[in-house]
Amino acid sequence: MRSITIGESTFSCQPDETVLETLLRENVQIPNGCRQGLCQACMMRSLDTPPPVSAQAGLKDTLQKQNYFLSCICRPEQDMTVALPNQQGASIEAVVIEKQLLTPDIVHLVLEYQSQFNFFAGQFVNLKRPDGLTRSYSIANIPQHENILEFHIRHLPNGQFSSWVHDELELGASVAISEAQGSCHYLPGRAEQPLLLIGTGSGLAPLYGIISDALAQDHSGPIHLYHGSRDLNGLYFIDEMRELAAEFENFHYTPCVSGEGIESDHVRGRAHEIALSSAESLSGWRVFLCGHPEMVSHTKKMAFMKGASISDIYTDAFHVIQDKK
Ligand code: FES
Repeated sequence: MRSITIGESTFSCQPDETVLETLLRENVQIPNGCRQGLCQACMMRSLDTPPPVSAQAGLKDTLQKQNYFLSCICRPEQDMTVALPNQQGASIEAVVIEKQLLTPDIVHLVLEYQSQFNFFAGQFVNLKRPDGLTRSYSIANIPQHENILEFHIRHLPNGQFSSWVHDELELGASVAISEAQGSCHYLPGRAEQPLLLIGTGSGLAPLYGIISDALAQDHSGPIHLYHGSRDLNGLYFIDEMRELAAEFENFHYTPCVSGEGIESDHVRGRAHEIALSSAESLSGWRVFLCGHPEMVSHTKKMAFMKGASISDIYTDAFHVIQDKK
């Protein structure tokens, strides 16, 4: 008989019982639906041992890598400590070591941490200020940069957290960070697969991390980045991207400006429309979409219509929490 630990409680899993059946029998509330491994409502994460491979059927490869599994089809092969996807592990403290403007409203924030911290570039963490106000931001750097986390934080009108970061957060100040979450990141393997990355505004942050990761892991297939903004203020890292494109012949960078009457030598139009029109078919491509929720949702459908497999489309929609004044 195997044991299942969740939070402070440990339960015995009967032979032939699934993790979901064990937890429901013990009155632990676990979301569920089909109970056949189809709807993914019952997804959980193993915090210690890898779950049985059969319990990860149909999950994105990036979720499998993080030990997520479907509890309704998981018959444990060993004792497991599990959690729901939204159950946070302990947060750690990090210190601001760099803060500089990338554009008039996007700041590059660099935090240094001392504790053990695992992440993939492109995942997000919750940053918490001392009064408890918390917001999610994507990680823009790869783990090889020891003990450093980089973020691109856009100053939102009336945004309490982003205003605090822009106006008050000082070098040396401490910020709490949650464990890294999310499945929008690069995984090695299929090194020759073409990659298409489309982002708007500070959606470049996770994409920059993903590109850095892919190049660091010798991805050999073409990597196409389309970064879009309505105006020139929303485009940044242009020199860095062009330098990267000069260094790696498989990396291609297209900055796009969609606003009317703006003079620039960038491609005119919306990044996702330009990107989609430049590929005849996306069959076999891996696609990453980050930024405005409508762009992400629309482009996900269009990429699928153009032949990309749903399992090869990774998204990070930047939903804005409207703060009251
Ligand atoms: S309840 Fe639907 S996949 Fe588990």
